[in-house]
Amino acid sequence: MANIQSLRGMNDILNEDSKYFTYFIENASRIAKNYGFSYIETPILEETALFKRSVGESSDIVNKEMYQFIDKGENDVCLRPEGTAGVVRSFVENKFDRAGGTYRWFYYGPMFRYERPQKGRLRQFHQFGCEVFGQASVYEDANIIMMLKDILDFFGIKFKLQLNSLGCPTCMPVYRENLIKHLTSFKEELCEDCNRRIETNPIRVLDCKNENCQKLLYNAPKITNNLCENCDTDFEKLKEILDFNGIDYVIDTNLVRGLDYYSQTAFEFTSDEIGAQSAIAGGGRYDKLVEFLGGRETPGIGFAIGIERLLELIKIKEQDEEIIYLGAMDEKALNQLTKIANKKRETTKTIMEYTPRGFSKHFKIAEKHGANIVALVGENELNDNTIYIKNIKTQEEKTIKVEDF
Ligand code: HAM
Repeated sequence: MANIQSLRGMNDILNEDSKYFTYFIENASRIAKNYGFSYIETPILEETALFKRSVGESSDIVNKEMYQFIDKGENDVCLRPEGTAGVVRSFVENKFDRAGGTYRWFYYGPMFRYERPQKGRLRQFHQFGCEVFGQASVYEDANIIMMLKDILDFFGIKFKLQLNSLGCPTCMPVYRENLIKHLTSFKEELCEDCNRRIETNPIRVLDCKNENCQKLLYNAPKITNNLCENCDTDFEKLKEILDFNGIDYVIDTNLVRGLDYYSQTAFEFTSDEIGAQSAIAGGGRYDKLVEFLGGRETPGIGFAIGIERLLELIKIKEQDEEIIYLGAMDEKALNQLTKIANKKRETTKTIMEYTPRGFSKHFKIAEKHGANIVALVGENELNDNTIYIKNIKTQEEKTIKVEDF
């Protein structure tokens, strides 16, 4: 009898992966808590209607990718394909919309999409997500983007940030009409999917991956040129805040996201180191979603990180880079360390901490820098002309002569 194996596109998390997985969750949660977020957990199984109403009937997720079935009680249920819908359902069910105020929640866990598995694309994958309710200020949009950047920076991940505004119920319908008019003039030349999308959800035509469609779209009207005054002011303000904080981004007017609930700010963080499935995280504003799901009108914004894709990047970085952290446990050792840092920097990234500190405090700071070698000099070492070294990966530690380091 053949052994039973895990289902296609569904992986165990063990060994190295589990180490990185918990390392990621711990640190991403810590950063989210520092930004005022608290943990929420919602069920993995929800009523199918929840995703149809929020993610949208015309989206690929609802159309093709849901793990949907009728349970023993004849309920139409679905394994969650994403986290936002369940969090919003809980927000409304627990009457936070009636209470008013601002709520910031984070979550992580498995999501399910019946997609064709390939590198970076799984059927069961994990997200780390954050959702904010009750904040219409564009400063919250900037805050969310900066927090996501902080998380990626902590893990030393290089990324590109793509930004767009999808307008609101005032300007989006007008833009949609303009777009349909434009697309209809060369409808026959567009791919089959796009022809369907013109009927169901024309803005999805903009992110078609077909090269021919992309060429044809070159002169298509741009949403950012069709925003109402309010959306335009918010988008300009958001760019200004990001500029002020030195955050690089590119405006991508074809970034429409694959879920229907967004309005105004939409963004994606991508990496060119992990192949075709390059989106590490995505999110945006969804000011109408609480209302769609039966609650009182409440602004919302959030994002989700694809954990598997992020771990891939952490692993690539770990393999590639050695980082030495140099610390003094005594003021007198600092001069000695400047000399060592100078020598090590000829070949290796070396970070020197200027404040003398205790042994374990140095390790905490070294972790923040992603250092894999921690090298410390205290009074004893200084007198013996030695240096204490610990390799974080192998956990090996030794004290050697300075000239041998
Ligand atoms: P999403 O863009 O569909 O957004 O997914 C977020 C991230 O999940 C993606 O950027 C990607 O890294 C990862 N991901 C998606 N599908 C797969 C897959 N099949 N295999 C591996 N990783 C995958 C959402 O889900 C929204 N709920 C985000 C959000 C939160 N918007 C507002 N709040």
